[in-house]
Amino acid sequence: MIARKAKALARSRRGIAPPALKSSVVIVTAGPTVEDIDPVRFLSNRSTGRMGVALAAVAAKRGARVILIHGPLQVPLPRGIPALLTRSAREMYRSVMRLADHADVAILCAAVADFAPARKAPRKLKKGGRAELVLRLVRTPDILAALGARKRKPLLVGFAAETDDVARHAKDKLARKNCDMICANPVLEKGSGFAGRTNRVTIYRRDGNTRKLPLLGKTAVAGRILDEVEDLLSRKNRRRRP
Ligand code: CTP
Repeated sequence: MIARKAKALARSRRGIAPPALKSSVVIVTAGPTVEDIDPVRFLSNRSTGRMGVALAAVAAKRGARVILIHGPLQVPLPRGIPALLTRSAREMYRSVMRLADHADVAILCAAVADFAPARKAPRKLKKGGRAELVLRLVRTPDILAALGARKRKPLLVGFAAETDDVARHAKDKLARKNCDMICANPVLEKGSGFAGRTNRVTIYRRDGNTRKLPLLGKTAVAGRILDEVEDLLSRKNRRRRP
């Protein structure tokens, strides 16, 4: 504690700004969403939440005030970080929107369902004599796009898990969802898919900078993503200063 205070004092004497994430409010979404079909069945995906949890933990370590909004995780929650469990895409959307006004940064790492059953059956669906069952799905709200459309938006980081044409899809998402940064990963590549401990990410920034990271552990990837966030935050802060 004393060492940290001494470091901060030395920095301010040398006229160096404190790290941009320090005391910033950062929302991180993580894990899958779950869309109920009936009381016993649901639609979900293979996200474990490991990448989002790593981002939350590293941001907190750098002094950010992190709020983690997450679906059911298959990894332990990081200690000491306020966390909000949500289930469906709609529920996650509501929680993010409620907190977004207070956020400086939003990192949307959750694997959010794009479609959900039009209605949840109140009782278990019985197969009866049916040979097939057609489920009607409707679009869920796009949390990233909704934040991107806001007048006062936090610094916005999205993810793009792609099977092909990664760069084109990532750049398209960056523009379409009005983000500051998209972290893209080729999910079919070895070491870069869902549920692993590593990831191969390329970061596309709105200012045109691209950073291709090697295959790294997810904590290291989180660190590199947050380096870019800190760079963008300090540019933003410099622009704000008279
Ligand atoms: N996302 C979101 N809300 C949704 C769907 C996605 O906030 N309903 C966010 C994810 O958290 C991620 C990014 O948007 O940060 C990637 O979304 P994705 O579904 O891959 O992008 P789309 O272009 O909407 O989908 P597609 O690839 O199917 O065109």
